[in-house]
Amino acid sequence: MSVLLATLAAAILSVALLPRSRRPTGSRPLAAIALVTALLCVAATCDVWLSTALADPPASDGASASADGKSKPAAEKPAADAAPLEAPKNWPAGHPLPKVASNCARCHLTAGRELTLAAKDFAHSVHDLQEMSCSDCHGGNTHDDVEAHEPEFGFIGTKLSAHLNKCRECHADVAEPLDAGPHHWDFSKRINTKYPSCVDCHGNHDVGNPPEDFTLNSVCADCHRQFETRFPNIASVVTENDKLWTTIGTLRAKLGTTDHRVPPEFADEVAALRTDTMKLVHASREPSAAEAAALNERAAKVREALTAWLKAQK
Ligand code: HEC
Ligand code: HEC
Ligand code: HEC
Ligand code: HEC
Ligand code: HEC
Repeated sequence: MSVLLATLAAAILSVALLPRSRRPTGSRPLAAIALVTALLCVAATCDVWLSTALADPPASDGASASADGKSKPAAEKPAADAAPLEAPKNWPAGHPLPKVASNCARCHLTAGRELTLAAKDFAHSVHDLQEMSCSDCHGGNTHDDVEAHEPEFGFIGTKLSAHLNKCRECHADVAEPLDAGPHHWDFSKRINTKYPSCVDCHGNHDVGNPPEDFTLNSVCADCHRQFETRFPNIASVVTENDKLWTTIGTLRAKLGTTDHRVPPEFADEVAALRTDTMKLVHASREPSAAEAAALNERAAKVREALTAWLKAQK
């Protein structure tokens, strides 16, 4: 273990001491993390920490994008407690509970106010449906309540830049068009507040299951005055996308919270449409009128088909 530590410390110091221009891109946060790690080691907790981490890696370490470019949930699951989760008093009737019975969810369900709201919003988000846990984004110790929030277990609390890096760890593919576009931010240089981040557009806990009153259009309009006159084409795409989401929301509400957001026969077209919309919106470029019209026509068609499907249900 000490050989490992010495190597680690040497590597850390060499990265940290490199002149700025020679650092590989994005190494500043790395160096900062590395220095913290080094300090932890000096405090002689590293042996214990490392052996715990190696024997039992935190769930968040298993997250990665697969070869086909699609995101995959973390391979390592938190120790799901034997007992299923229980809804606290005043839990809204019919609202689902998080799927994974992690210690995080169990305690937060009764912790109150915004601590419980996180668990409520998370339940049946796209990540919950993938059986992800709180710790896949926040880190933390899923085996020991007392150490649940300790940074040694990768707990990042609510630090936004750390969270945005987490999103990107699993969604590197979708980050590419963003990085090539005008909304690109680079946290290794500075904290950007000028540009929208993943959570401005997607939310944090309710990803894939936005609240009823949410529209992406109003997010764009927050920063872009006369959004619809300055960028009529992308604005029309965003508006169609909002309408599709409203329909999907109605569908979910009427059907009850099932695991599928749309009936399986619509899943492929909805997914393809969203990927094409993502490519355009992540790149934040004004498309030609024809390109926007083609995308909007597809969105309107699938939306109408979904509405008709819903009407046909008894
Ligand atoms: C035994 C109860 C308990 C467990 C287990 C627990 N939490 Fe918490 N959590 C709390 C309480 C209470 C707070 C508010 C006070 C505090 O920050 O300590 C909190 C705060 C938080 C916050 C907000 C921190 C901030 O800075 O505002 C996050 C994020 C969080 N917990 C995530 C998690 C995750 C992830 C896990 C599992 C690895 C977890 N919690 C496990 C009780 C718990
Ligand atoms: C997809 C990633 C993700 C997952 C999964 C996730 N969180 Fe969060 N959480 C975030 C982000 C991002 C923030 C906000 C950070 C910021 O705004 O600075 C946040 C904020 C919080 C906060 C602070 C209060 C708030 O709502 O802003 C608490 C408490 C919290 N999360 C608890 C949880 C619990 C408990 C779970 C599991 C039931 C969970 N989170 C699952 C990403 C996630
Ligand atoms: C541990 C890996 C992991 C992390 C961390 C993660 N995601 Fe995901 N995310 C997934 C998986 C798996 C899916 C479902 C499969 C897919 O669509 O690629 C998904 C789906 C999504 C979707 C598609 C939503 C839909 O309706 O289909 C969005 C948007 C998204 N994530 C945003 C985020 C944001 C924003 C963050 C950070 C706050 C984040 N993700 C963090 C794994 C992750
Ligand atoms: C937090 C503020 C913010 C939000 C929210 C935001 N943008 Fe932007 N956007 C900017 C800034 C700043 C620029 C200018 C970048 C530059 O000067 O190069 C920009 C640039 C653009 C451009 C390129 C402008 C040009 O002149 O070529 C388009 C198109 C665009 N945004 C579309 C959108 C859309 C669509 C949304 C909503 C989905 C959105 N933006 C949300 C801040 C924002
Ligand atoms: C300016 C708004 C905006 C920002 C910023 C943004 N997204 Fe998106 N994203 C969208 C839109 C619009 C779509 C496509 C329609 C939809 O899913 O609602 C999308 C789609 C996605 C998808 C689904 C892609 C697919 O093929 O189904 C994922 C995953 C995703 N975004 C993750 C992220 C992550 C991670 C970040 C931050 C690195 C991010 N987004 C930043 C607006 C945004």
